[in-house]
Amino acid sequence: MSLPVIRIAEAGKYEGQDVELRGWLYNKRSSGKLHFLQVRDGSAIIQAVLFKGDVTPELFERADKLGQETSLIVRGTVKADRRSALGFELGVKDVQVIQEARDYPITPKEHGVAYLMEHRHLWLRSSRQHVILRVRHTIEKAIRDFFDQDGFTLVDAPIFTPAACEGTSTLFEVPYFDMGKAYLTQSGQLYMEAAAMAFGKAYCFGPTFRAEKSKTRRHLTEFWMVEPEVAFMSLEEDMVLAERFISFIVQRVLEKHEKELVDVLERDVSKLKNVVPPFPRITYTEAIEYLQKAGHPAKWGDDFGGDEETVLANQFDRPVIVHRYPAEMKAFYFRHDPANPQVALGMDVLAPEGYGEIIGGGERESDMATLEDRIQKHNLPMDAFKWYLDLRRYGTVPHAGFGLGVERTVAWVCGLHHVRETIPFARMMERITP
Ligand code: 4AD
Ligand code: MG
Repeated sequence: MSLPVIRIAEAGKYEGQDVELRGWLYNKRSSGKLHFLQVRDGSAIIQAVLFKGDVTPELFERADKLGQETSLIVRGTVKADRRSALGFELGVKDVQVIQEARDYPITPKEHGVAYLMEHRHLWLRSSRQHVILRVRHTIEKAIRDFFDQDGFTLVDAPIFTPAACEGTSTLFEVPYFDMGKAYLTQSGQLYMEAAAMAFGKAYCFGPTFRAEKSKTRRHLTEFWMVEPEVAFMSLEEDMVLAERFISFIVQRVLEKHEKELVDVLERDVSKLKNVVPPFPRITYTEAIEYLQKAGHPAKWGDDFGGDEETVLANQFDRPVIVHRYPAEMKAFYFRHDPANPQVALGMDVLAPEGYGEIIGGGERESDMATLEDRIQKHNLPMDAFKWYLDLRRYGTVPHAGFGLGVERTVAWVCGLHHVRETIPFARMMERITP
């Protein structure tokens, strides 16, 4: 007898029919003549009901002893069940055990986060992690869709690079044959500037690396960044692109996952529904004045930490854009404001609810001599930037872009305390396994 092999998520299409499911035992309970097996297959969870009178005595007895995460094939009839989240259950006729798992390390009881991170390869199977990583999937797809629909070309940036882009203190070094040292990329931006001059609108999307000695809830050593770059774009237009982009992502997640966000992650989604343009904009200088009024010891020239970002963002019901930071504290490539050379034409987007900076970007210096000067002042190796200066030598134009960190975005949208749960296998100062 060959039955249709289905995924649990599509069980509804087979109501009243006999089907075959392939998966793992998520949980189980029994009451006399009935065993209830929660079976998961990666698409959803279904309750498979074994009635003593429907199966052999051997199977009925064995089913009661199966360990959590035993792999199995279940055959039976799909039936409507309005009480379950799925809306359907399976009336079991047969169970075939593939491998009997014993003493699965993650039980339905509470485990500490350190223990769960140690078992991350198994923790991925739990329903909470499932929701988070599916939201991440949706966000990554939305990122692609947004730029693809907006006329951007995807241009992949290299991961081995010859020099720093975002400051030398967070570089990971790698030995590189006879050429000495290479570095893991901190950002694809410089390559996207080349791509923008070739394609007008380009973006890259991939892993980036920072040897951050910060053990905070927002820092990873390996994280995913999407970086659009556009020729002939100003800082003002960059901000408009950023707010359209973030709103698109958030609304897409709500369309697809509102119920799971509420039911599984207990996210207050009303706060996400506000995320529509326009976002408020304040200058760095206004931000400092605000912090001082709020009793913070911040002074002009200071960088914002998580606490300052939270105080600033808490005034607004949606992300806020802070622009025109002191040029001193910004990377070498920023264009300085012609109206006030003390400040750089850069902006950060701060997410609400204490999540802080999710986007950093701005307008780039397009003048060759100014840029050469900057590279020198920042003590960067001129040789490694020769190709970059060519972009100013051959048809330079004003241009701008930004980088959005995927993990911080997922943490904010899902309402998570720490970014470690937003990436399948987190890399942090104190963690490189599993
Ligand atoms: O502000 P950053 O350093 O900007 C750049 O790298 C620019 N070159 C981007 C560009 O203009 N093309 O980083 C951008 C974003 C941050 O806003 C944050 O979301 C994320 O990347 N990010 C991190 N996420 C997790 N862990 C870290 N250590 C991060 N560092 C930056
Ligand atoms: Mg930044």
